[in-house]
Amino acid sequence: MCAQFDVLLSEEQINSRIAELAAEIDRDYAGKEVVFLITLRGAVVFGCELAKRVKTPVYFEFIQTSSYVGTTSTGVIAMKYDVDKSAIEGKHVIIIEDIIDTGKTLKMVKRLIQGREPASLKICALLDKHECRKVELEGDYIGFPIGNDFIVGYGLDYNQKYRNLPYIGIYDESKA
Ligand code: IMP
Ligand code: MG
Repeated sequence: MCAQFDVLLSEEQINSRIAELAAEIDRDYAGKEVVFLITLRGAVVFGCELAKRVKTPVYFEFIQTSSYVGTTSTGVIAMKYDVDKSAIEGKHVIIIEDIIDTGKTLKMVKRLIQGREPASLKICALLDKHECRKVELEGDYIGFPIGNDFIVGYGLDYNQKYRNLPYIGIYDESKA
């Protein structure tokens, strides 16, 4: 089958890397339970596929952020949908993100969730655009480091479209 966009990562490549990440999580959290704090909406597909492959018991929680660009062009990130402290406190929490770009979103989310006193807190992202980082922020589990193309599929969108593509493709307006 011919894909709409140029394929950066095929479904097979993604799924086999997710299986490796799941094995790493199982090794690191042996005998424990984890909370997947999945960021809406982009990380939903990844979070579910990862959870299906993890044998450690997984609890699901969700958050959603929205970013407003201020007059000074400094991006301010706000919580649109939040999680109760009771779901975090004393728990082993892994923030599940689709992609780390500037790192601003996750830096804010990490600080906020850390304040709710989890037993431990890690970040798992399917993709990492490391060269685009504007703040100091590292993921603990990374699926694939990628370059700075705008990509869609496997949960990632362009204006809310293409989230259900089973692969990750390079967005190209002429093919949209
Ligand atoms: P940042 O790390 O705060 O800059 O923001 C990361 C968020 O930007 C991700 O959760 C995505 O929603 C979005 N994003 C960044 N790069 C892409 C891309 O190439 N395609 C789709 N969404 C992207
Ligand atoms: Mg996102």
